[in-house]
Amino acid sequence: MSRGAFIILEGIDRTGKSTQSAKLIESLRKLNINAERMAFPNRTSNTGQLISKYLSNKDYHINDQTIHLLFSANRWENLDFIRSKLFAGTSIIVDRYSYSGVAYSVAKGLDFMWCLQPEVGLPQPDLVFLLDINPEDSRLRSGFGSERYENLQMQKNVSTILRQFAEIENYWKIVDASKSIEDVHEILLKHSNEIINDIQIDKRPLTSI
Ligand code: TMP
Ligand code: MG
Repeated sequence: MSRGAFIILEGIDRTGKSTQSAKLIESLRKLNINAERMAFPNRTSNTGQLISKYLSNKDYHINDQTIHLLFSANRWENLDFIRSKLFAGTSIIVDRYSYSGVAYSVAKGLDFMWCLQPEVGLPQPDLVFLLDINPEDSRLRSGFGSERYENLQMQKNVSTILRQFAEIENYWKIVDASKSIEDVHEILLKHSNEIINDIQIDKRPLTSI
């Protein structure tokens, strides 16, 4: 049996990642493809609860380096889960990954290489979708502003950094997230289906960041 695909949805806040990952899972399952959804930060674990408190309470102080490492630890906690699902043939669709980790911290002023280092060794995605939207538009979407980082300057900085990842790496696909939910879904489903099939055919190994 071949492994599942490891697929990430990235983007600034309020681009529709959760909506799209839920729809993608539903459609893949209709095609009889085993697929599960994850999201980072995973707010249920010990690190996740601290992260959630930090995001929702702007008076709760954790220094920039420490919160960065907590976000990374929150991914490492799930290493065994991710590997076991993939090797059991289940594809995983993830809302945010190491790239959000790097982009949000670099946007605050931390050094890029320092930010990337704790991500090294985590599973390498097969495909990353960048749900791309103008930060001026995403901030008009409902709910914007409720958590730390949901301000225009931060979102603009993060958007620029995520686009740089997308332009350098060929396993990234930039998707225009200002399109309708159905149009975006169709693009995500097509490319996800392709990568899941490709992995079955060429039996490519799971590598590391
Ligand atoms: P969420 O809105 O997708 O739940 O993510 C919460 C916030 O945390 C969002 O503004 C992005 C930010 N974030 C980081 O700063 N570092 C990370 O590693 C991750 C996964 C998210
Ligand atoms: Mg958010």
